[in-house]
Amino acid sequence: MTLQTRDQRIIWHPFTQEKTAAEVISIKRAKGSYLYDENNKAYLDLISSWWVNIHGHAHPAIAQSIYEQAKTLEHVIFAGFTHEPAVNLCEGLQTILPSDLCKFFFSDNGSTAVEVALKMAYQYWRNLGFHEKTTFLSFDGGYHGDTFGAMSVGAKSGFHNQFKDLFFSVLSVPYPETWDDDDDVESKEQNAMSALERYLDDHHHKIAAIILEPLIQGASGMRICRPRFIHAVIDRVRQQNILVIFDEVMTGFGRTGTYFALDQLGITPDFLCMSKGITGGFLPLALTVTTHKIFDAFLGDDFSTAFAHGHSYTANPLACSAAVTSLRLLKSSECQDAIKTIKQTHNKGIEQLKLKCPRIEKTRTIGTIAAFDLKNSAHLMPSLKQQFFEQGMLIRPLGHTVYVLPPYCITHEQAESAYTKMIQIIHSL
Ligand SMILES: Cc1ncc(COP(=O)(O)O)c(C=O)c1O
Repeated sequence: MTLQTRDQRIIWHPFTQEKTAAEVISIKRAKGSYLYDENNKAYLDLISSWWVNIHGHAHPAIAQSIYEQAKTLEHVIFAGFTHEPAVNLCEGLQTILPSDLCKFFFSDNGSTAVEVALKMAYQYWRNLGFHEKTTFLSFDGGYHGDTFGAMSVGAKSGFHNQFKDLFFSVLSVPYPETWDDDDDVESKEQNAMSALERYLDDHHHKIAAIILEPLIQGASGMRICRPRFIHAVIDRVRQQNILVIFDEVMTGFGRTGTYFALDQLGITPDFLCMSKGITGGFLPLALTVTTHKIFDAFLGDDFSTAFAHGHSYTANPLACSAAVTSLRLLKSSECQDAIKTIKQTHNKGIEQLKLKCPRIEKTRTIGTIAAFDLKNSAHLMPSLKQQFFEQGMLIRPLGHTVYVLPPYCITHEQAESAYTKMIQIIHSL
């Protein structure tokens, strides 16, 4: 019996309609930018395996640090205990974060990092006696994960409509997505700002926090907005005493060209959520980072004002040691140069695609991410994905959007040849 058949009998895969899904591909091993299946067919991982493997696969330095840590301390309860990898990681991150972001709360996936930020924002106001601040602002198309709080603030992403009766109250602002040569961006931004003003007029005293994916919304189709729009929004909500949550689960760790998107914006949020790239794709880990102002509001003489949240695997030492090594690799000049090279290769590749494939529209790039839409092609997407696989490329279109988000170890030649293949496939559609 093949592995696929055994899998089909017993496993229920994430975000999959199991009735119509294509047969799963069984991956045997991985190295650098490539995954290899049972027959040794290579797939260039152009999406960093759900956006996590920033240094590619099986990086020996990260593997070694996990091995060394496993021999020393594999896990310990994190309430009332600490360990070196956790402290080292937070101290390491502090060197690349704005100094006000100085209190680190661990969890183990992006949804939970968001959940923690939402709960902290909500309880912050309660601890200060502002019990009416119970609602949140978010953006249409924002995706923040699959737990209930994260689904509520991502209600207008459309991913979770089955659950919408259970969501809490959220005010969702139109998102002025933009792309190369977009003539309409000003009016989209004005429209979004007007909607925001209406919400603020009617509800500002009820809003605990705003949550956004800074610079680019990932899951709803790699949708970019202009930094100046984010500045206008944050300036405005801060005048109304609304806390700011940056969900950098996807954008963090170099994805947008800087360590975090906040570096390009020059904004320090009240909460920063990070996960995905944090361990370089080796182990699950997440952080919600906040400020002294927020932390201090949870101090008290009894447990009533404390933050009642924690998970069994909080700050797992193996994951923390992987993250320490991944951060060291990210900071290296080799990796920083690679990020710049990917950006250049994307720009060249997108120019070629525009020239050779008339179906392409709304091209956009930011840092190590490139994306474009295909006109009237939604029905072709499943077969397009299949053709990418056949040609040895792991690319997973989102709706009518094709995007490339490679590991930073991808070479210029590998990326260029991927663009050449993409052009051939799309041209022949
Ligand atoms: C911006 C953003 N936030 C949160 C999440 C949820 O992260 P996880 O899948 O680790 O729960 C994702 C996942 O794609 C994401 O892109």
